[in-house]
Amino acid sequence: MISEKMQSAFLDQINKELFSEYLYLSMKAYFKSLNLNGFANWMDVQVQEEHAHAMGMFDYVIERGGRVELLAIDKPECNWASPLEVFKAVLKHEEFVTSRINALMDVAEETRDRAAMILLNWYIKEQVEEEAGAGEILAQLELIGADKNGLFALDKELAQRTFVAPVIG
Ligand code: FEO
Repeated sequence: MISEKMQSAFLDQINKELFSEYLYLSMKAYFKSLNLNGFANWMDVQVQEEHAHAMGMFDYVIERGGRVELLAIDKPECNWASPLEVFKAVLKHEEFVTSRINALMDVAEETRDRAAMILLNWYIKEQVEEEAGAGEILAQLELIGADKNGLFALDKELAQRTFVAPVIG
């Protein structure tokens, strides 16, 4: 049985993951408005990943005999000055999520919830990938600068990204 404290921490994080889904959906809409369909595709995969992250915790709480109560999702940003600014925001957001996952692990350790620790190990590793992926695209955009050909080449590359459902846990 999951403790009240652990459950409440998971419910808060489910909300953060669903907000992430919403934020990346908003970024997808921004890229669609610029006709940068490869960037929009990258965001679409991100949307699906965030949904899977939320559901991994949703299913876990129920499996441990808990009760999921969904919280309100904040309105995400909808406008950015450039693709570079979007990816600065992505990296910043992922760093924030990493800090929240680490805080969740602190609660698991405090409450000696070993099953939660095993689940959270997966999320900690995932955050390493999330930050690395966003950081790589951000670095490429910084190199590209104002070069439109570079931007279109990166757009083509990002069009190749496909969603693979993660096996969480
Ligand atoms: Fe669910 Fe992008 O971390």
